[in-house]
Amino acid sequence: MLDVVIGLQWGDEGKGKVVDVITEDYDIIARFQGGPNAGHTLKIGDTQYVLHLIPSGIFRANTFNVIGGGVVFDPVVFKKEMDDILAVVNDADKRIYISRRAHLILPTHRLLDAAQEQAKGKSKIGSTLRGIGPTYTDKISRNGMRIGDILMKDFDRRLKDKIDQHKRLLDFYNYHDYDIDKLMEQWFEAVDYVRKMNIINSEYFLNKALDRGARVLAEGAQGTLLDIDFGTYPYVTSSSTIASGACIGLGVPSNRVNSIIGIFKAYTTRVGNGPFPTELNDQTGEMLRKQGNEYGATTGRPRRTGWLDLVALRYAVMINGVTELIMTKADVLDGFDTLRVAVRYKIDGQETEEFPFSVDDVRPIYENIPGWKANLSQIGSYDDLPVEFKNYLKFIEDFIGKKITGISVGARRKEFIYCK
Ligand code: GDP
Ligand code: IMO
Ligand code: MG
Repeated sequence: MLDVVIGLQWGDEGKGKVVDVITEDYDIIARFQGGPNAGHTLKIGDTQYVLHLIPSGIFRANTFNVIGGGVVFDPVVFKKEMDDILAVVNDADKRIYISRRAHLILPTHRLLDAAQEQAKGKSKIGSTLRGIGPTYTDKISRNGMRIGDILMKDFDRRLKDKIDQHKRLLDFYNYHDYDIDKLMEQWFEAVDYVRKMNIINSEYFLNKALDRGARVLAEGAQGTLLDIDFGTYPYVTSSSTIASGACIGLGVPSNRVNSIIGIFKAYTTRVGNGPFPTELNDQTGEMLRKQGNEYGATTGRPRRTGWLDLVALRYAVMINGVTELIMTKADVLDGFDTLRVAVRYKIDGQETEEFPFSVDDVRPIYENIPGWKANLSQIGSYDDLPVEFKNYLKFIEDFIGKKITGISVGARRKEFIYCK
């Protein structure tokens, strides 16, 4: 049985937290796309961990964790993350499996990310500068190198050709501020470390596990509105962040997919550039940032904040085929007198309920919903939730046409309420 967790907004919906909560029900957690641009936060007791490449099941004993073929893999980030985890979980390296097909992020991919962003000037994407775009570019243009290559005889020669090619590109961008020897030394050290890990044909590993009846959870990174095809292009990431991406990134057929668990925040955030119809550039936006501690888990950048956008959410539920909806960070809305949710867009004088080709110039039309005066993170069961909050849930469910099955009311594992 394969279930898929995906983000329904612009990332940072709390996927890591939700995966950590539900991992108990699974044997294997697998990342299928993205790379170290992701930052998934888990709060276990009072300790906070941020995972970039390693799946969020690593802190649960007996859970196997797979980095699938659709991921772009930076050995340097992996080594640091693994070492940090090994300091607290001593068998973590035995429970991690890396696909031979995952593409390698080379030091020059990160430099190219920076050079290309610089060249874009005002229209830059606001990328995490982790080399994601250039690595996927090389993959699609059939110039990439993969994890499996680090075990091949001609690796050094092929790598040198790539690095030389990238250096010529960096010259073209007039980007010279780097010490390639130092970067390569650190990278080779990390590659030696990765060679000692379990490197596998993850498509066989996962399909055989599924045949044996294993329960597998695919953990998405980023979110639907950052998807390369269905996001707010060009202000997106370079991978398929939607549920269908799990099949491609893991090599598991689509008829194996059981539940598609869509995660959304009770409001909206975005980090990086690009359109954001319900953005609040005022005191309310500042309050959401403060109460929600909305600062990037990977880059530390302040996240842009705004009201819940139901037009975008319904679109995301449709594209992913969501079967279960989970709301996170509901506690962040505690104390607001009135909440607003976007239910339509006005575009070129016309109203629409569909998420259009371009959301650059849309004006959201809102419904007001009364807020609640309660501390949701102190509440342990659905029955004890305030009626105003239940009305907020009901409004969303009626609009989307799907039930909300779980609500996260705090960063910690136990701050989670299953709905009836
Ligand atoms: P991800 O990328 O989707 O895994 O999300 P991030 O980890 O980047 O961002 C979510 C942030 O919200 C993290 O700091 C979490 O610890 C925190 N968080 C997750 N769920 C909740 C919640 O229900 N309430 C509050 N207050 N914080 C939460
Ligand atoms: P998680 O998995 C939020 C954003 C970047 C930028 C755009 C492209 O933690 O939800 P990239 O480095 O991928 O080329 O950047 O995508 N972005 C994210 N925003 N959460 C993420 O991951 C993100 N990963 C990338 O800010 O706007
Ligand atoms: Mg994140």
